[in-house]
Amino acid sequence: MSEKRSEQRVKWVVGNWKMHGRLAENAALLQAVADGAAAMADTIRIGVCVPTPYLAQAQAVLSGKPVAWGVQDISTYTHGAYTGEVAAEMACEFGATLAIVGHSERRAYHAESSELVAAKARRALEAGLTPIVCIGETLDEREAGTTEAVVGAQLDAVLNLLSVEEAARIVIAYEPVWAIGTGRSATAEQAQAVHAFLRARLAQKDSSLARVPLLYGGSVKADNALALFGQADIDGGLIGGASLKSQDFLAICAAQKAASQAR
Ligand code: 13P
Repeated sequence: MSEKRSEQRVKWVVGNWKMHGRLAENAALLQAVADGAAAMADTIRIGVCVPTPYLAQAQAVLSGKPVAWGVQDISTYTHGAYTGEVAAEMACEFGATLAIVGHSERRAYHAESSELVAAKARRALEAGLTPIVCIGETLDEREAGTTEAVVGAQLDAVLNLLSVEEAARIVIAYEPVWAIGTGRSATAEQAQAVHAFLRARLAQKDSSLARVPLLYGGSVKADNALALFGQADIDGGLIGGASLKSQDFLAICAAQKAASQAR
């Protein structure tokens, strides 16, 4: 990928809090991220995806600050008898602009298929949210040499459902399942290889889709972020554990700013 093209792509660092947080600790974390983000918002976009009950809190602290907020999942429906589900429009009412869909934890623990994930991505777009579509292979799949087949099929499910215009508005997060929460990040070279594959697949659908931001997720920390974000096809990170400590999260954001400026 040429440097010029890379510059045109939006650079992101997004925190995925997963099922962590309580009101008091969130207040301190959100405030610290908002304060720290001020010095970076000229170069990169920063976001946090919080547990749904904390959307109002995120909105209260982050409104007017250069930090976007969002949810970790949405329903494929707008309303109805779907106990426990949350509609994209509900998240929008609290100022959310981001929605993670298809995280591997949802695929694994809630049996979410790639088709369902694609439907969630479309629903998010219809409501005005930017879907962060997660894809990634398990360790068994990597060791069997099927990484590209697996992530290619996960991506295709989304590209088959969305129009080119819609697909141009999504963000993809490549998160190898074996790297999530394990402390074992993919190497920068391993991640870059998959990102280059995904970018080529997007461009095959339509050349405009080569600009879809591709984030890497899986044990991103302050000490490996620069190497990852310095790769030609890695446009940022989706951060789990390290997004729960403001210092760690902001250090990762600073690495992304440094990587962007070095391009
Ligand atoms: P960790 O950063 O904790 O490995 O989690 C990554 C992740 O799943 C982000 O969505």
